[in-house]
Amino acid sequence: MLAATEETIAQYTKYVIGNYTRIPAVMVKGEGSYLWDQDGEKYLDLFPGWGVNGLGHCHPDVVRAVQAQAARLTHVANNYYLENQGRLAQMIAERSFGGQCFFCNSGAEAVEAAIKLARIFCEPRYKIITMTNSFHGRTSMAMVATAQPKYQKGLPPVDLGFTYVPFDDVDAVKNAIDDDTCAIMVEPIQGEGGVNVPADGYLRALRDLCDERGLLLIFDEVTTGSGRTGKYYAHQHFGVEPDIMTMAKSMGGGLAIGGIEARQDVAEKLVPGTHASTFGGNPIACSGAIAKLEVIDRDGLLEHSIRIGDLLKEKLLALKDRLDVIADVRGKGCMIGMELTGPGADFVKRCMQAGLLINCTHDTVIRFYPSMCATPEEIEQGAAIVEEVLGAGL
Ligand SMILES: Cc1ncc(COP(=O)(O)O)c(C=O)c1O
Repeated sequence: MLAATEETIAQYTKYVIGNYTRIPAVMVKGEGSYLWDQDGEKYLDLFPGWGVNGLGHCHPDVVRAVQAQAARLTHVANNYYLENQGRLAQMIAERSFGGQCFFCNSGAEAVEAAIKLARIFCEPRYKIITMTNSFHGRTSMAMVATAQPKYQKGLPPVDLGFTYVPFDDVDAVKNAIDDDTCAIMVEPIQGEGGVNVPADGYLRALRDLCDERGLLLIFDEVTTGSGRTGKYYAHQHFGVEPDIMTMAKSMGGGLAIGGIEARQDVAEKLVPGTHASTFGGNPIACSGAIAKLEVIDRDGLLEHSIRIGDLLKEKLLALKDRLDVIADVRGKGCMIGMELTGPGADFVKRCMQAGLLINCTHDTVIRFYPSMCATPEEIEQGAAIVEEVLGAGL
């Protein structure tokens, strides 16, 4: 028998650290694009798990794969070989740029591994250029990589070797390179920063700059990777390959897994003793990640996510023509942002009351990261709720 909602909230108040702004709903069940709370309310979830549930909630193929794996082997040390960890690495390499993978459990850990590897490869150079409004995670090094002071509470007053420049500005990157620079790290499309899609030539120009100046190019694909934008990895929209790529979020089909892929000669520098993760690449997480890629391929979900993303954009753009509170609509595949002319927090709250879950970032940008399996009907249902709620004003 589940505790009542009020009891669970009281338990949290007493025993769980209050580092999240929590919405007073206890979520108990998810299926596809829908989520149910303990009081029986059903929600259309167009921001499932902050981008983790890329196939929606509890996709049956992921559930089956994970259940079967859990009954066979849950964990062994990384001193042994695991058949499904090797298979996952091959599947990722074959769908991207043919590198080698290291696995961990989250996005910030993937970013840490990428930073460490870049510095080891380029030693003694250590400086990394990152972009304003970037987001790279909450561990200490990832916080410094994140060029936003609001995320840097608790950092020691030491220079950890990051230089910040405006996003989508090649000259600013050029001017920031010095003799100690080893890498440029960028999200191909910024997520937390407001779903910012760079100009077409930006990533290509960064690639050329890295090649000219002997720098590594790191793409943080924690949010944009694993099919989110309608390609396996978002950099494939721009025809540019990184030297190191990070992954996490929807990579495991809802399971906690992260990782990096690096160009072979770069990856070779991560020799025994340089880096490790006890849980990284465990067989259960790998089974979820393999199932996710298999479902994407079998069901043609890259194409499908472009179709539903375009449908959502079309609906929101039509709304923009009628409602002057919408300033912009942008994004690719299942990563869509709608910029409002004012704060969006209250709008998000009212959408939830109307049965729709979305998110607001940077005060004014509403994020829609629907499941790649969402149906056109679900997208239309979501757009209709947005219309109804926004029609009443911000
Ligand atoms: C681009 C990017 N990098 C890194 C992270 C950190 O991931 P995690 O919260 O899994 O540590 C995030 C999380 O939102 C992200 O969007």
